[in-house]
Amino acid sequence: MSALAVDDQPSTSPVGDVEGPATDAPLIYFSSVSDNTHRFVMKLGVPAARMPLLTKEPTLQATRPYVLVLPTYGGITGKGAVPRQVVKFLNNERNRTLLKGVIGAGNTNFGETYCLAADIIAAKCHVPVLYRFEVMGTSEDVDRVTKGLEEFWI
Ligand SMILES: Cc1cc2nc3c(=O)[nH]c(=O)nc-3n(C[C@H](O)[C@H](O)[C@H](O)COP(=O)(O)O)c2cc1C
Repeated sequence: MSALAVDDQPSTSPVGDVEGPATDAPLIYFSSVSDNTHRFVMKLGVPAARMPLLTKEPTLQATRPYVLVLPTYGGITGKGAVPRQVVKFLNNERNRTLLKGVIGAGNTNFGETYCLAADIIAAKCHVPVLYRFEVMGTSEDVDRVTKGLEEFWI
């Protein structure tokens, strides 16, 4: 697998970027300032690590297999759907290797680009899209993902 180019976006991090905090959380996620994904993840009750909000900050270093949760920010064009913070995180080869599956967050109002970022990463990293949910998820989404994480995914 080539180093990056998830979604063909250049990372803003230079080669030899400072290593960020290591995490053994089974769930790693990105959530913007609107915090929708954060609120969903908090309802799951499993250890989770949040990526830094700012791309210039050192990114997380996964130390065990994990599931990635991320929202899509493509808009109707789908261009740049994968948040840059996630691109930077996946530029780390070990982070890519330890990725076991993706859960997409989005909004069906966006039509064809609903949860597109999860599809892009799944294709690039050869892992499955495990689930998709809207905004901060329903209680049914929480139950399904909790069960899936416990029984199958991690
Ligand atoms: C500018 C913008 C573009 C978006 N584009 C998409 C999109 O292409 N597909 C999608 O499913 N959701 C899209 N969304 C919806 C977000 O993915 C959704 O609101 C998500 O819950 C945001 O998560 P966060 O608050 O954790 O960052 C977009 C939202 C914004 C504000």
